[in-house]
Amino acid sequence: MAKILVCVAWPYASGPRHLGHAVSTFIPADVVARFHRMKGDEVLMVGGTDMHGTPTMVRADQEGVSPALIAERYHALDAKNTEELGVRYDLYWNTADANHKKWVQEIFLRLRDRGHVYEAMMTSPFCPTGNHFLPDRYVEGTCPICGFPKARGDQCDNCTNLMDPFQLIDPKCKIHGTTPVPRETKHFFFRLTAFQERLAKWASEDKEHWRHHVLTFTRSWLQEGLKDRPITRDLDWGIEVPVPGYETKRIYVWFEAVMGYLTATREWYRRRGAPDGWKDFWYDPEARHYYFIGKDNIVFHTIFWPAILLGYDERLVLPYDVPATQYLNFSGEKMSAGRGKGVWLPDLLERFDPDQLRYYGIATMPETKDTDFEWADFAQRNNSELLAVYGNFVHRALTFADKNFNHEVPPAGFLDAVDKAMVRAIEQQWKHVGQNLEYVHLKDAMRDAIQLARLGNQYIDQKAPWDLIKKDRAACGTAIHVALRVTRSLAIVMAPFLPFSSSRLWHAVGYDSDVHALRWEDALEDVPSGQKLRVGRPLFAKIEIGDLKEDPENRLDIRVAEIVDVKAHPNADNLYVMQVDLGDERRQIVAGIRKDYAIDELRGRKIAILANLESAKLRGVESQGMLLAGEDDTHVGIVVPPADAVVGTQVLGVKASPPLPFSVFQTYRFQVGEDGSVLFLGREGEVRILLKANDVPLKVDKGLKEGTPVH
Ligand code: MF3
Ligand code: ZN
Repeated sequence: MAKILVCVAWPYASGPRHLGHAVSTFIPADVVARFHRMKGDEVLMVGGTDMHGTPTMVRADQEGVSPALIAERYHALDAKNTEELGVRYDLYWNTADANHKKWVQEIFLRLRDRGHVYEAMMTSPFCPTGNHFLPDRYVEGTCPICGFPKARGDQCDNCTNLMDPFQLIDPKCKIHGTTPVPRETKHFFFRLTAFQERLAKWASEDKEHWRHHVLTFTRSWLQEGLKDRPITRDLDWGIEVPVPGYETKRIYVWFEAVMGYLTATREWYRRRGAPDGWKDFWYDPEARHYYFIGKDNIVFHTIFWPAILLGYDERLVLPYDVPATQYLNFSGEKMSAGRGKGVWLPDLLERFDPDQLRYYGIATMPETKDTDFEWADFAQRNNSELLAVYGNFVHRALTFADKNFNHEVPPAGFLDAVDKAMVRAIEQQWKHVGQNLEYVHLKDAMRDAIQLARLGNQYIDQKAPWDLIKKDRAACGTAIHVALRVTRSLAIVMAPFLPFSSSRLWHAVGYDSDVHALRWEDALEDVPSGQKLRVGRPLFAKIEIGDLKEDPENRLDIRVAEIVDVKAHPNADNLYVMQVDLGDERRQIVAGIRKDYAIDELRGRKIAILANLESAKLRGVESQGMLLAGEDDTHVGIVVPPADAVVGTQVLGVKASPPLPFSVFQTYRFQVGEDGSVLFLGREGEVRILLKANDVPLKVDKGLKEGTPVH
């Protein structure tokens, strides 16, 4: 029995998470944790939400609310989404917790006492417009290494290299767009250089089980030579620096968030009344610590965090494996919460069985290279693998027994060579799955599990029970018994990957127990003859490709229109009355854009209108729809499609949707995204972001800045 600490990267509390996060962190962590629990290992899986840092602050600035509110909102959403995905943390915590803060400050002070943390002056970018420093994500510019135009001050998202903000080409303040100036500021630094030799030695020993890309990345960092790093920031959101004179500064988010693995272990034991219990996991040299992260997190987990551990206490356990993933791209582009690109968990979870998401996530897991999420591929793999191979096999076995053997498992008689080969295959596949899981090769492991179902289908084809039953009922019973034995084994072997359907299947085979409480070896046992089956619906639903991009709740009808005529409103000096062409019809709409647009600027222009808004009289003039526009304190900028957009094209929603009252429309939120694009944030309260297939990319006029509301 081994001690296994499963550490899951802490997602930023800055928005809903996309499938890429789940596939790099929660899902693989959960599969490995479930497997080791079944093996009888002592497993603790910890993580939570990363509440601090500039991503949360940037979001708060955009919405005009406090970072605490944003952090709480997305912490709650992440906790809910991970649970809905069947991800079973022992503790899903968050870094704003008072105990985390207290223990982080303790670690900070101890590192300082031991000389690993020291004060020094540094130059930092400063925005003269807003009169503030620009730490980390507050500054954006072009990456000097890969040329990515939206690199941040601390890291380039594209090539994952860490940045010095002054390396960025053409840096800009994210809030004010101003070019920052250098300014002196005092900070604490972590003496990373002191750990160079010990880390180099550690990285050179016993790492055969590490993924190649993680090891090369880590070793090349060490080869270049470590540098000391500032670990405080000029910010007011984060953990206080426990030293007088630092009231306006906070501990760097990465420095404290990685400590969360240790503090969360401590919290878990504290809650169980064993305040020293965490030491079992952190001081036992045999304990294995796994860290599930995305590739942009590697250096923090293979260099910084081990150095902090060494600095705090040499005897603490260093990472055993850091199986970082590459990126799951979205139709060829990097998913990015910050840039509103991706497939979002709240949306996915509302529409699909979590096991369908887990299946596709694992099947396309970017273990060694970037992979792509494609809607059509998602549907196809669900239908042709999960459903057609696994779902179909167990359904065939169960329904045949249900119909022909009195709803129960028929007894097994004499086993012929084919039957014996099938039974042997259970053990073989089970072994392959287990070996692959030991090495965190999840894709291969799940493929081996599916292979067992494939062999099951071949077995049924070969036995042809529908014929056999007419010739030799006992032999047919034997075949169905063996097929149900395979079914039973599949419920167990699939349990780490697809926990919900495993529970359903286990129940269908007639068991009342919890499949997740079983042992891994239990997969090799036979199914009891005479056990009553509970055959219900097939395990998985088919995904119709045509349905995928449709949001059933979507009640909007937004289309490209062309302004044919514009007149001043007779009774209101800020309104226009416009005639617009929708291709197959004409509408009259009233719009409040008179201060920002002259009539000549509008005639003949293409716009985006909400075509199914309930018509209403505005100051006595009927308006049959609404033009979309962004609006800040001083300007209104209309939403415009590309010049070559075809009049009448559906941009979002469903054509001819029922009339939408204005009060309902107000619950949908749009805002200006990157480069003036329009981001549809879904409905208020549900906090979901939907990005429809945007064949007609809309832009907001007048250069309104990112985050400005659109309505
Ligand atoms: N919040 C970071 C991200 O989303 C991950 C932090 S992992 C931790 O990229 F270990 F530092 F907590
Ligand atoms: Zn600024």
